[in-house]
Amino acid sequence: ALFSILPSEVVLCWYDGQSSSDDGQSLKVNIPHSGALVAPLGSSVSFPCLVSRSSTPSTSSAPAVPRVKWTVVSDGVETQILVVKGQRVKVSEAYQGRAALLNYTSSPDDLSLWLGDLRSSDSGYYRCEVQQGLEDASDLIQLKVKGVVFHYRDALGRYAFSYHQAQMACEAIGAEIATPDQLLAAYYNGYEQCDAGWLADQSVRYPIQFPREGCYGDMEGQPGVRNYGTVNPADLYDVYCYVEAINGEVFHDSVPQQLSFHGAQSYCRAAGAELATTAQLYLAWSEGLDRCSPGWLSDGSVRYPITAPRERCGGPQAGVKTLYRFSNQTGFPEPSSLHDVYCFKGAYFVLQKCIVYNAELKLHIRNTWICM
Ligand SMILES: *[C@@H]1O[C@H](CO)[C@@H](O)[C@H](O)[C@H]1NC(C)=O
Ligand SMILES: *[C@@H]1O[C@H](CO)[C@@H](O)[C@H](O)[C@H]1NC(C)=O
Repeated sequence: ALFSILPSEVVLCWYDGQSSSDDGQSLKVNIPHSGALVAPLGSSVSFPCLVSRSSTPSTSSAPAVPRVKWTVVSDGVETQILVVKGQRVKVSEAYQGRAALLNYTSSPDDLSLWLGDLRSSDSGYYRCEVQQGLEDASDLIQLKVKGVVFHYRDALGRYAFSYHQAQMACEAIGAEIATPDQLLAAYYNGYEQCDAGWLADQSVRYPIQFPREGCYGDMEGQPGVRNYGTVNPADLYDVYCYVEAINGEVFHDSVPQQLSFHGAQSYCRAAGAELATTAQLYLAWSEGLDRCSPGWLSDGSVRYPITAPRERCGGPQAGVKTLYRFSNQTGFPEPSSLHDVYCFKGAYFVLQKCIVYNAELKLHIRNTWICM
């Protein structure tokens, strides 16, 4: 049954990386994959891992029962995913239902791990470890989970998109309408937004961590993703969009500019670039961009990305902050109002880097250019 839910769309990128050290032990653990694994938000991934024992005869009578352990190190914290002793696989509480050993029961040397419902916090270093008697061997692989879900509201006001308009609105800002799985993955990462929005399956939902008046939806006092079910496509809501890759770089000058919307367009053009889209800014934020300076984007909205929350930069939550025209959080700013700017430079810019390094551009996988 496991194989039916194996990923069909997992993206693999190869880089030169390190493999396990060879210190003369008879027990060896090998992850036959070098470099990082890259997978989209909400998808699943399998980490290959093989154990081998060289035929060096041991003096002891019966071989000890091996103990297998998968752990992940993320933000400096090590967490256990599962342990195996003999035939017993014990999956940690936090990974129930989304972690499993693929082939272990039929071939005990195959310790490959399957991990589903990927969220951004799953990015990290995964260790496959085997202990047997006095020996201990392990290997490491990096996972990067890509993609970000974000709430989008029309400039005209709250709840202004039909289902069809919602799809087009995401496309117009360089994204696509999010799937329920992607919104759920974002929710498990702490995403909270008390605004009902369209999703790709024509349902309307919103993610709530802290249930409160006006945000109960169909769930009363429980945290979770509220779901209105399949909704008439003519009804009006906001939308949740998803972006996974941008072929280029968002940039922002450290000196704030005071520009109108048209001034901002000219500013980027003069830099050989264009105004960044809202989706590009969200993706740059998800990859660590932090600027406490509201700037124009191509749809006429004004936003700024905060990864290290501080009081004077939009309060205690990380996120892309939006400057609305009205206090009820609707409307984009007047085009004549003065703000900073976020520009975007397309992939040809990255191409130049290859030339600088005197290498040839060979391959483009999603957002990764590989120079060889
Ligand atoms: C599991 O075993 C099958 C058959 O040996 C093999 O084709 C498949 O690649 C294995 N899966 C993993 C993740 O190693
Ligand atoms: C928000 O405020 C604007 C301006 O006061 C008003 O036109 C609009 O109807 C309000 N929208 C909502 C959803 O309350």
